[in-house]
Parts: sequence; structure tokens; C-alpha cells
Amino acid sequence: MLNIAVCVSGGGTNLQAIIDAIDAGKITNAKISAVISNNRDAYALTRAKNHGIESCCVSPKDFASRDKFNAALLEKLNYYHPDLIVLAGFLVVLPESLVNAYQGKIINIHPSLIPSFCGKGYYGLKVHEAALSRGVKVTGATVHFVDEGTDSGPIILQKAVCIEPDDTPEILQRRVMEQAEWVILPQAIDLIANNKVSIVDGRTVIAQ
Ligand code: GRF
Repeated sequence: MLNIAVCVSGGGTNLQAIIDAIDAGKITNAKISAVISNNRDAYALTRAKNHGIESCCVSPKDFASRDKFNAALLEKLNYYHPDLIVLAGFLVVLPESLVNAYQGKIINIHPSLIPSFCGKGYYGLKVHEAALSRGVKVTGATVHFVDEGTDSGPIILQKAVCIEPDDTPEILQRRVMEQAEWVILPQAIDLIANNKVSIVDGRTVIAQ
């Protein structure tokens, strides 16, 4: 049984998609043992409580330095012994110590088709603003492993989403979540939980 820790910062709709997929049997061999937020007010924490999942907040505001916050975050994650850490809208740059401690065991959902509109500064609505201002006709979402770079780890799954003529960043963000993020994040977790994902030469191989 894959033991998952989910890290969140906001509304937690991706967390909800994971919870629902486990309940519906679309993700097998996995359970969420903890939800960790950097933001005390994240609605994602309420979603966790509503489902009887342990949750907690590790906020940088409660620590004298970034190093102390980083150490506390790592310590909290270690406490749960996760096999997989899922970053589901987690707006924290992970410290190198955490990435190193969990090599190949951290995944992230990014709301574009990497390598477009990703990397430093591309988060939240900014991603969709950039896609609309470039005038691309197709965008989407990507689930990838986390390495020491920003959005640079091996890609696990991607799903394309069409851009419509009257899209605003908010409308597009919602469509990308509904049509792509909430679909491929649970799919990727199910694949990992059933040992179907391996990394070969920096790229993922998905077993059929
Ligand atoms: C999603 O668009 C995710 O891709 C991005 O932040 C948003 C989080 O939404 N990184 P939610 O908290 O899962 O509702």
C-alpha cells in the first residue's frame, strides 16, 4: 500500500480529486496518510479533516529563518514515512535537502504542457495569463517528478486542453483543472501505486 503525503497551499481541488479517486477505486493500493499545508487558512486542510485524514500546517511565519522552516517541513514529512509526496498546488520552493531525501518520490502537478509556461515565476494564474498572451491554441497540464530544478523533472503524464476565443485566465484555469489536472494527477498516482512508472535515462517509462 503506497503511503502518500499531500502538500497543499490553497483550495485543494486536486487533493479532493485524489480523495475521490481513492474512494471510487480509481486509485488502488494507496492511502493518504497526511495533508500538510504551509498556509493555515488553506481550505485543503478542511477537506482533509472532512475525510478524516490527518492534517497540519507548517508555516514559514512560525520560524525565525527559512532554514528552520525547511528543517521543520522535512521533519514533519519524515514523521509520516511517505512512499510518495504529492505537491498539489503547493506554493513552496522545496529545499534541496527535501528533494535529495525523497529522490524519485515527489510528484507535482503543473497547469501547462511543460516545457511551455513553466519554471521560475510560472505559478497559479500567471501560467494561464502567459498562455493567453502568447496566443497558443492548446494548453494543458503535466504531472512530473520533482528534481532540484523548477518544473524540470521527468514527465509522467500530460493532457491537452483547447483554448477558446473568449477565455480569461480564470476561465482557462478552471477548464485546465476540470479537463486535465483532476484527471491526470489521480491517474499518475494510480500508476505509481501499481509500480508502473520507472525512470530510465531521465525519462519515465510507463508499463502497459
Ligand atoms: C492548480 O492549478 C495547480 O496546478 C496549481 O495550483 C492550483 C491548485 O489548485 N499548481 P487546488 O489547490 O488543487 O485547488
